[in-house]
Amino acid sequence: MSEIPKLELKDVYISYTDRKGRTVQAAEDVNFTLANKPGVGEMAVVLGPSGCGKSTILKSVAGLLTPDSGTVKIDGQLVQGTGRDRGMVFQSYTSFAWRTVRQNVEYGLELQGIAKEERKKLSLAIIEKVGLKDFADALPRQLSGGMKQRVAIARTLVNKPRLILMDEPFGALDPQTRWGMQTTMLDVLKTEDNTVLFVTHDVAEAVYLADVIFVLSHRPAKVLHRIDVPTFESRNATVKQSAEFKRVENEVLELLHNSNVHGNIRVGL
Ligand SMILES: Nc1ncnc2c1ncn2[C@@H]1O[C@H](COP(=O)(O)OP(=O)(O)O)[C@@H](O)[C@H]1O
Ligand SMILES: [Mg+2]
Repeated sequence: MSEIPKLELKDVYISYTDRKGRTVQAAEDVNFTLANKPGVGEMAVVLGPSGCGKSTILKSVAGLLTPDSGTVKIDGQLVQGTGRDRGMVFQSYTSFAWRTVRQNVEYGLELQGIAKEERKKLSLAIIEKVGLKDFADALPRQLSGGMKQRVAIARTLVNKPRLILMDEPFGALDPQTRWGMQTTMLDVLKTEDNTVLFVTHDVAEAVYLADVIFVLSHRPAKVLHRIDVPTFESRNATVKQSAEFKRVENEVLELLHNSNVHGNIRVGL
C-alpha cells in the first residue's frame, strides 16, 4: 500500500443556492480517504438516504463542482475541474445512439489516439468481460436497460481511469437485472485493479459490493461511519439469502438509523 491515498476528502463543505436565494447545505465537514492499493483496487461505497448529498460529494470528486471549502485530492493532486482520469457511470444511459456497442466502447481509446487494431482488441476483451460478446455489433437501441449499463461500464473500464465514479448506476433496473449487474461488477473488478467510488441508498447493494462502506447522515451529508465489510466466502446472488449476509445487512441498517454512533466499525463475521 502506498502512502499517498488514492482519494482524500478533507473538511469538505458544499452548498447550493436554491431558486429563492436560500442556501442549501448539502455536504458538511466531509472527511474520508481511500487507500491506494496497486494491483488490488478497492470498491468503496458511499451509502446514505435519498437527498442527503451523495451525488453532491461524487460531483466534487468528478470536478463538476468546487467545494465552498475543504479539499479533494486524487493521488495527492488537488481536483480542479473534470478530467479523463476519472470515469463516470450514471443512472441514465449515455451511449452514442449511432455507434455500435464496440464503437461506443472504443470512443475513449480513439480520443487517446490508440491504433485501430489495438482498440479493437482492448474493446472486445472488456465487452466479453461484461457479458456482451454477442452484442458487439448491436446498436444501443437494440439493448435492454441492463445491457446498456454494461456498455457504460465497459466504456469506462477500457480507459483504465485512475478512479471510477458510479452514481446509483443500477437504480433504474429491475431487481433481477440489478443483481446480475452487481455480480458482473464484482467479477470484472476481480480481474482488474480498479478503485471504484460507488454511491447508493440501497443497503443490500452496499453490503454485497463493498470492501468498505462510508455511511452518511441525512442532509447535510457527513460521514458517520466507516465500515470494513467482511469478505463473504462466495459472492453471488445466493449469498444475499444467507444468514451471514443478513446479519451484516442488519448491522449496517442499524448504524444507518443510529446517527449517534461515530467512528470506524467492523461488522459481522
Ligand atoms: N443544483 C442544486 N440547487 C439547489 N439544491 C440542490 C442542487 N442539487 C442538489 N440540491 C439539493 O442538495 C441536497 C443533496 O442533493 P444530492 O447530492 O443530489 O442528494 P443524493 O444524491 O444523496 O440524493 C438535496 O436536498 C438537493 O435538493
Ligand atoms: Mg443522487
